[in-house]
Amino acid sequence: MNANIGAPTADIAALLANYSLPKPLGFGVELAPIMFRADYRDGAWEAGQLVPFAPIAINPAATCVQFGQQCFEGMKAYRVAQNEPHLFRPESNYARFGRSAARLSMPAPTPELFGKAISQLCGAFQKFVPGDSGQSLYLRPTLLGLDHTFAVKASETYCFLLLASPSDAYYGKPISIMVEREHSRAAMGGTGAEKVGGNYAGSLLATRKSIDAGFDQPLWLDAASHTVIEELSGMNFMAVIDGALHTPSLSGTILPGVTRDSLLKLAASMGLKTVERTMLIADLLTDVKSGACSELFACGTAAIISPIAAIGEADGNRLSLPKENPVTTKLKTALLDIQEGRAEHAFSWTAKASDEQALINRLKS
Ligand SMILES: Cc1ncc(COP(=O)(O)O)c(C=O)c1O
Repeated sequence: MNANIGAPTADIAALLANYSLPKPLGFGVELAPIMFRADYRDGAWEAGQLVPFAPIAINPAATCVQFGQQCFEGMKAYRVAQNEPHLFRPESNYARFGRSAARLSMPAPTPELFGKAISQLCGAFQKFVPGDSGQSLYLRPTLLGLDHTFAVKASETYCFLLLASPSDAYYGKPISIMVEREHSRAAMGGTGAEKVGGNYAGSLLATRKSIDAGFDQPLWLDAASHTVIEELSGMNFMAVIDGALHTPSLSGTILPGVTRDSLLKLAASMGLKTVERTMLIADLLTDVKSGACSELFACGTAAIISPIAAIGEADGNRLSLPKENPVTTKLKTALLDIQEGRAEHAFSWTAKASDEQALINRLKS
């Protein structure tokens, strides 16, 4: 274990001594028996520490409960070549966590606190980070407003938690998506570009509608005109059109995904043309019909890439995509090879999870 980490407290050591990974693990189902917690009060973050995983006491009138004053992140530690867990572009998740916190008028954890939480948890839990290709320790930094008040105002006390879930590869079958023409996920000036709980709550009814219509998930359009493609509820959207990789530009209403950005950079490095643009849904459907659009997929940390097999409407009408998806497959393999440390590459995207100081330096960069 890295010298920076410090020995886990007796409670934590005893908990881990008695812990074993269930089989099968599933994705995001099993919760690690430890978590990191730090509280914010009187204008400063306390040092924080690893604690046993347990439900926490929250005042039912707290701002996180009543007003959704909370945000979170989703990132993974991969056990690279069977050795120590490595993170993928953690500075991007930290920066986004900071933007989400700021958008809801919350204090973000400092780089020192965030780095300490991740390195301590990954260090203590290291031997339980599953090591088969595709498996990972899914990490969920979470920030909650704790003050109780029925007046709409920002809390002055907060709780930062780092939760973890040892996970199998996310084996989703290709998904089908329904163009959502009634509801909106996000509007300009709202919180669509941040990772805050309310965005997800607001997407659930449309998910239900899409399932009732025979699809898996809605595809969101812009709130103003309902003509421009945005993203899925928890993944960004990409299309292979005439051999090039197209994706909606970051309009301010979609989440700037780390996977999206990585795939764009990776695709360009592989000689694939990449296009970030305003994508009209009408044009896309025409391109799918004509065959100009040969592949659609969604991308995000959990699944990396989910191929899209069909796209359709609330009345059940759908267009199918070809079964072969060579570009999607090539990109997914190339990205996972980097994340799991198999591939030589020009990006400095991976970082040892347990090296606290190096991680903090990275988060500050
Ligand atoms: C709404 C939304 N879009 C896109 C993404 C993909 O982001 P990332 O690649 O950083 O996981 C996520 C997942 O975090 C998401 O919740």
